[in-house]
Amino acid sequence: MVNGETIEAIRSEAIKHYAWDSSAHDQLHAERVLRLSMRILEKEGGDPEILAAAALLHDIGMKYEIAEDFDHAEKSAELAEQILLKIGFPKEKIPEVVDIIRIHRFSRGIKALSLEAKILQDADRLDAIGAVGIARAFACGAKKGVPMYSHSGSSTLNHFNEKLLKIKDSLNTETARRIAEERHEFTQLFLKKFLNEVEGGE
Ligand code: NI
Repeated sequence: MVNGETIEAIRSEAIKHYAWDSSAHDQLHAERVLRLSMRILEKEGGDPEILAAAALLHDIGMKYEIAEDFDHAEKSAELAEQILLKIGFPKEKIPEVVDIIRIHRFSRGIKALSLEAKILQDADRLDAIGAVGIARAFACGAKKGVPMYSHSGSSTLNHFNEKLLKIKDSLNTETARRIAEERHEFTQLFLKKFLNEVEGGE
């Protein structure tokens, strides 16, 4: 089981780094990823302590990426190591947590090897589809100054086809694939309705 005090200590350090001006990669995202991770872990197994730490810290470098053009996964891994050492997290587990965070990023296309790494990737990707995922996509697009949709050029809606609709087939675990089914369907339905309304439909 995960020690509640350890989780609280990680959480209070993580909050210092998460940006609050966007709903896409903030503390709330980390908490949702934590819940999804634990749900997947219940079925698939794995070390809950390693996974919980990785889930809470996986995006703490994001605001630095936006500000300084860093790779957020690298930055998150670096900050996570400092935090885990500081709060007295079991030393032998720190390299694994750091490694999971380093490879979690979707666009890097790196195959996760350990079970915990696979689960974190899955949980992070699941949070990008369904009702929450759709809201995050538009929040993130607005922050980047990308239009909601466009008949030519990049838009948040294009991002649906390029990334969100591919997530279902990129998952590592059976449990995540099951959770993805309804979220994927809902995302497809949203897309269909959106395009219909753009054309003046019902
Ligand atoms: Ni994330």
